Amino acid sequence: MENILTVLKNSILYITINRPAKLNALNILTIQELDAAIEYAVEHKEVRGIIITGSGNKAFVAGAEIAEIAGINEFTGRKFSESGQEVFEKIELCPKPIIAAVNGYALGGGCELALACHIRIAAENAQFGLPEVSLGILPGYGGTQRLPHLVGKGKAFELIMTGDIISATEALNIGLVNKVVPFDNLYEACEEMLQKIIQKSPIAIAQVVECIYAAFDEEEDGYQVESDSFSICCKSEDFKEGTVAFLEKRKPQFTGK
Ligand code: COA
Repeated sequence: MENILTVLKNSILYITINRPAKLNALNILTIQELDAAIEYAVEHKEVRGIIITGSGNKAFVAGAEIAEIAGINEFTGRKFSESGQEVFEKIELCPKPIIAAVNGYALGGGCELALACHIRIAAENAQFGLPEVSLGILPGYGGTQRLPHLVGKGKAFELIMTGDIISATEALNIGLVNKVVPFDNLYEACEEMLQKIIQKSPIAIAQVVECIYAAFDEEEDGYQVESDSFSICCKSEDFKEGTVAFLEKRKPQFTGK
């Protein structure tokens, strides 16, 4: 791939957006490569969790590629938005846990990418914002939908309407990120949380993704999805292993079956 680096280490797939000279701005090729990397992660058993980050120490992703945005019209603009939404939905619905390691600017499409991940851990230097209205557009990769879920309607209106850029600490205070850590500890903190998650039953974790997604989908009966998911877990070998291991006072060995 041209704009994405992938490394598999200790069952974690690191996906690094790698256009540092452009502050890792997401051009169309990068979105397509990101899509391919997520597909790879879903399909390969050896990948148990994913960390998405940006190259360098200045930016996670500073937005969609403005040079490309400048050339779109009402028709290509719709397609631009829909194709980004599709990839970001794949991230949100990924059955394996995804943490955004936010190592700098997370603006526009970069903030939306972080919002699509299951969990966000930010370095102290990270900055967040959805400045699209300054360009005469609005967040088109799911930002208007996901931000209110995390920070509430009022704060979402404020951030999207002003285009203000906020610090990692403020992002933490409003619930936009899960944790803020010193830059040098960022990857360690992500790995620590992800290792904790991937020790659990992969089946249970995948069902958690479905249930939490359903909680925000008005067309779904979330309680129904929850009981269906509960039932799926109950027929798994992981469920037997988890309960037997508890009773035998040992650590469970989950196989994802
Ligand atoms: N699209 C395309 N290129 C981008 C970009 C984006 N979203 N964000 C940054 N870049 C490029 C700059 O054009 C510059 O390229 P150049 O060296 O070829 O001129 C390079 O990345 C470095 O950015 P620069 O602006 O010089 O860095 P800075 O430290 O002065 O400012 C930002 C950093 C993030 C505040 C500033 O780059 C910025 O405002 N970027 C756009 C953010 C945005 O509006 N994102 C939403 C897009 S929908």
